[in-house]
Amino acid sequence: MQPKKTGLSLKSLSVQFSIIVIGIPTLVLMGFGLYQINSQTIALQANLDKKLNNEAAQLSASLSTALFNFDDETCQVICKAALNKPEIIKITIRDLNEIYQSYAVDDFSAYDPNRESKFVQIPIRFKNEQIGKLEMIATTRLLEKQLGALKKSILWQIIILDLILAFVMSLVLLLRFVRPLKELERGSERIAAGDLDYPIDVSRKDELGALAVNLLTMRDAVREKVTSLESEVARHEKTSVTLKTTKEYLDNILNSMPSMLISLDSDFRITLWNNRAEELTGIPAQDAKGKPLFEVMGELAPLKENIEATIARNEVYFQPRQPRSRDDVVVYEDIAVYPLFSEYVEGAVIRVDDVTEHVKMEQMVVQSEKMMSVGGLAAGMAHEINNPLAGMMQNAQVVLRRINEDMPASVAKAKEAGTTMAAIRTFMEKRGITRQLESIHHAGVRASQIVQNMLSFSRKDYTGKTLHNIAEILDLTLELAKSDYDLKKQYDFKTIEIDKAYEVDLPQVSCEASKIQQVFFNILKNCAEAMQDSDDAREDKGTPRLTLRVFRKGPDVIVEIEDNGPGMDESVRKRVFEPFFTTKPVGKGTGLGLSVSYFIITDNHRGKMNVISAPGKGAKFVIHLPAA
Ligand SMILES: Nc1ncnc2c1ncn2[C@@H]1O[C@H](COP(=O)(O)OP(=O)(O)O)[C@@H](O)[C@H]1O
Ligand SMILES: [Mg+2]
Repeated sequence: MQPKKTGLSLKSLSVQFSIIVIGIPTLVLMGFGLYQINSQTIALQANLDKKLNNEAAQLSASLSTALFNFDDETCQVICKAALNKPEIIKITIRDLNEIYQSYAVDDFSAYDPNRESKFVQIPIRFKNEQIGKLEMIATTRLLEKQLGALKKSILWQIIILDLILAFVMSLVLLLRFVRPLKELERGSERIAAGDLDYPIDVSRKDELGALAVNLLTMRDAVREKVTSLESEVARHEKTSVTLKTTKEYLDNILNSMPSMLISLDSDFRITLWNNRAEELTGIPAQDAKGKPLFEVMGELAPLKENIEATIARNEVYFQPRQPRSRDDVVVYEDIAVYPLFSEYVEGAVIRVDDVTEHVKMEQMVVQSEKMMSVGGLAAGMAHEINNPLAGMMQNAQVVLRRINEDMPASVAKAKEAGTTMAAIRTFMEKRGITRQLESIHHAGVRASQIVQNMLSFSRKDYTGKTLHNIAEILDLTLELAKSDYDLKKQYDFKTIEIDKAYEVDLPQVSCEASKIQQVFFNILKNCAEAMQDSDDAREDKGTPRLTLRVFRKGPDVIVEIEDNGPGMDESVRKRVFEPFFTTKPVGKGTGLGLSVSYFIITDNHRGKMNVISAPGKGAKFVIHLPAA
């Protein structure tokens, strides 16, 4: 701040001093001069009066004899002589009552009798007896002249004295007071302008010295204040830098959070919108901030009451596993609302976590747990059934052979019984026993196939794993399916359009080729069956199509087999990998195809298998196998 400059005005100290220094002596000297003039005037006047009286007394004495004798000539001579005196301008002699003689100066008429004259009257005596009167008129012109000269001289004296006094006093004032004051003023100005090292002279012992000391104290105090202010400012700057970095740090943390974080003020206006929120909603932070939440995210409107309650009761609100459809896909979200209470802010923070993967994982864990137990049970049963079944089938085979073949032992025993093998065969044929036995054998074969499948559930470490190109296995399986007689009976694979998208340079996979073939075969068969069904149901359905993809993703090779069949609803999709789960009529489906496949992939090959499907949207089976 620049100090105000005091210019040369009436208020400036030097002007004030000059007025005092010139004015006061002038006034004093003028008073003294007036007094002088006055007293001199009185003295001169008194002098004139005395002189005139003396003159008149002398004149009356010298006239007394001449008047007594009425000697006119002498009277005239005396009077004319008296008129030569400078002040006297008229003389009149009276003999008691009448004017005897009167003389005046030649220019008497030029005198103003009222203003500039004096009148003296004195008796004329002869031997102590009054014989007449003398009247004398004197002018004061001379006196006034004298007075004028006196006034002039006094005025000059005053002026000269005044000037000398003023000069001396000004000099003294200037040197003793004005200059040090100016110096102090400059000092205070410089200090005010920030020059805190400007030297201040404190050698004087008077009030100015005290003022200088005060100024110095003030300067030191200011310096102290400035230093403390500077350190305060530095501290402030440091704090603001820390604040800025802390804010950036916090922003970074908030933005790198995998959760969607939205904070609201008490009016539900958005104050924070992190990167994840931008990602999930596609709304940039600058468009969201400051706007009411439900205007930006209408789907959160049902939360309004919960948020209000959260703020009102200062309680955390948590809603786990909320399904929401995003881009036609169902996602699951954990929604938490935390109250925000502090001295400066009031509101809430909403945290939304996409837990879809988690939910899927859980579902898979539940499913595999279930399958492990069911699978274990099934495998145990299969083991137990396997031996008696083998015995039954073997016995049925033996019985048939003993009937159909003319073995010597059989022929001998028939003879012993009084019949022939041909008669027995005829009987058997006629009674349908041979057919029954054959059907027992057939049923046994079917049962043993199921049992074989069930045995896959048992945890076995396959040692027959070798390196294979998965795409080649898939192509081979497709060829097998096309030529498979059983399948051909039901559907012609040639009517199915097949799209392939195989990534080149795929890494090999360590696996047991026949098992993987079985998996692919099961899936292809299911797809063909499903599309056949939908063909039967709806004429307008486009060509049945299978899309096969093989690609690499991270450490895995991924196989996708997708059809454009009827798809499945949620309740079916959740259970397809369960052993014995089938929607097909008895005899057509065993419900083992996918569960066996699942075991082969997850248990035997440490891979993953899942299905994505919705009604009317086809089915996509996805298999992950770790690359070698
Ligand atoms: N591609 C598919 N499209 C629709 N549903 C399917 C498909 N694949 C399997 N499924 C369903 O999964 C069930 C189980 O299949 P699976 O384990 O192979 O047993 P199965 O074929 O003997 O019924 C089937 O009954 C069917 O309902
Ligand atoms: Mg099947």
